[in-house]
Amino acid sequence: MTSNMTLNMTSNISTLRLQPLLISGITCLIVFCNGISFAQSAAANKSKSPQTYAELAKAPEKWRTRENPLAADPDAVAAGRKLFEGHCAECHGETASGGRKGPSLRAQEVQQATPGAIFWVLTNGVVRRGMPVWSKLPEPQRWQIVTYLKSLGLPATPNVTTK
Ligand code: HEC
Repeated sequence: MTSNMTLNMTSNISTLRLQPLLISGITCLIVFCNGISFAQSAAANKSKSPQTYAELAKAPEKWRTRENPLAADPDAVAAGRKLFEGHCAECHGETASGGRKGPSLRAQEVQQATPGAIFWVLTNGVVRRGMPVWSKLPEPQRWQIVTYLKSLGLPATPNVTTK
C-alpha cells in the first residue's frame, strides 16, 4: 500500500516537472525562430535588393514614352513637393533620400527613368513589395509629383560656371 503510493507520487512529480520544461523549451524555440525571421527581414530592408527599382524598367513602351504634360509648369515642382510630403515622405523620407520603409528616389535608377515610367509606377504601385497604388490621386497631381521628383536631379556635381 505505502510503496504503491510512493510510486504514484514519484511518477506524478516527474511528469509535473517535465511539463514546464517542455513548455519553456517550445516557447524558446518559437521566440528564437521569430528572432531569426525578424533579423532577416530587417537585413532585407537595409540592403536594397537587386529587384528594388526593377519595376521602373518594366513600364510598357506606351507609358515609358509618354510626355509629362506638366514638365514645364512653373507651379508643378512646389505642388508636387507638397503632395510628396503628404503622401510619400512617410516611406521615402522628407527629402526623398529614402526612409525606413522605402528606397531613395534620388537614386540614379529613378532619376534616369523617363517621367512616363515613374508615372506608370505611381499608377500601378509595386504592391507585393510595399509600394502602394496611387491611381486614386488625380492624374495632374501624379504628374506634379513626377515633375517634383525630376527636379531633384542626381546627387550634386560641382557647378562649373564660366564668367
Ligand atoms: C507605405 C510606404 C510607401 C509609400 C507611402 C510610398 N512608397 Fe514608393 N516605394 C515603397 C517601397 C517599399 C518601394 C520599393 C519597391 C520595390 O522594391 O520595388 C517603393 C518604390 C518606389 C519607386 C521606385 C519603383 C521601383 O521599381 O521600386 C518610386 C518611383 C516610388 N516608390 C515613388 C513613390 C511616390 C511618388 C510616392 C507618393 C505618391 C510613394 N512612392 C509612396 C514604399 C512606399
